Amino acid sequence: MKYTVLILILSIFFNNQARSQNMISGGDFKDTDGNQINAHGAGVLYYNEVYYLFGEIKKGKTWLVPGQSWEDYRVPAGGVSCYSSTDLKHWKNLGTALRSVTGDPSNDLDTGRVIERPKVLYNEKTKKFVMWFHNDRNDYQDSKAGIAISDSPEGPYTYLGSIKPNNQMLRDMTLFKDTDGKAYVVYSSEDNNTMHVCLLTDDYLKPTEHYTRILIDRNRESPALFKNNGKYFLITSGCSGWSPNAASYATANSIMGAWTEIGNPCSGTNAEQTFFAQGNYVLPINGKPSNFIFMGDLWNKLDLEKSGYLWIPFEVIDGEVKINN
Ligand code: GLA
Repeated sequence: MKYTVLILILSIFFNNQARSQNMISGGDFKDTDGNQINAHGAGVLYYNEVYYLFGEIKKGKTWLVPGQSWEDYRVPAGGVSCYSSTDLKHWKNLGTALRSVTGDPSNDLDTGRVIERPKVLYNEKTKKFVMWFHNDRNDYQDSKAGIAISDSPEGPYTYLGSIKPNNQMLRDMTLFKDTDGKAYVVYSSEDNNTMHVCLLTDDYLKPTEHYTRILIDRNRESPALFKNNGKYFLITSGCSGWSPNAASYATANSIMGAWTEIGNPCSGTNAEQTFFAQGNYVLPINGKPSNFIFMGDLWNKLDLEKSGYLWIPFEVIDGEVKINN
């Protein structure tokens, strides 16, 4: 009996210890007005000492697209939200950065379509903020990038149109701006079988013809790319829709490859399911070159607007990524 109580106390203690590593875990992520933050599949722009969080606005009833061979649960695409913070703890709602439209299925931004994984970069040359996101039909057969532009980080962003880079499919995606100012779009292509890394034009508004195929036939999605000590790191998930699976990471000395797969960056309980999350971004912490936050979505596929968040700080030590929960 005594031992059972001791084990119980110890397990509560260690669980709390483990949980205390997470910055955000679950559905309770509020803005400074006390409202639930609605920013899924998110990305962060760090500009003028402010962090800007952009994400999918998921609002409304979840429904299942009929006739699909997979669990194609959808919620109306509410556009892209924007929040700002200087300490990564207090987030102010800056409103809707990119608005969706209702009742116009031929419009890329219609609520019946897909507006996912928005990412924003600042272009030093043009002084514009550029947003890319995954734009699609609700059966994911368009597989395109949507591109929008703004004079200020929070928007409103003007929609410029959609594109398939080099006529290749683009689904889950991220943007990455390198230290030399060059920017890249990284995306699941070829029906999610293979990822592509494509250099953008100098104004970040278009893909160039310079692209490379990576993680060939590895079926990866939700790319999150970051750089540490001159080396590139790419964390991805497997392809199992809204259901969690094991993450994996790859490294490269050049962003165009060759990329080497290393394995699961997560360890601890439920590491094989990425702690029930799917990554959306890796945020470098300003002023701490080896410190990052793994940002993920805790999808609730039957009620997508209730999906939560999991943010885990981690450090790259001796070139290795270790994300512990
Ligand atoms: C995966 C993707 C998400 C979304 C869902 C749709 O989880 O990573 O962004 O497209 O599939 O099922």
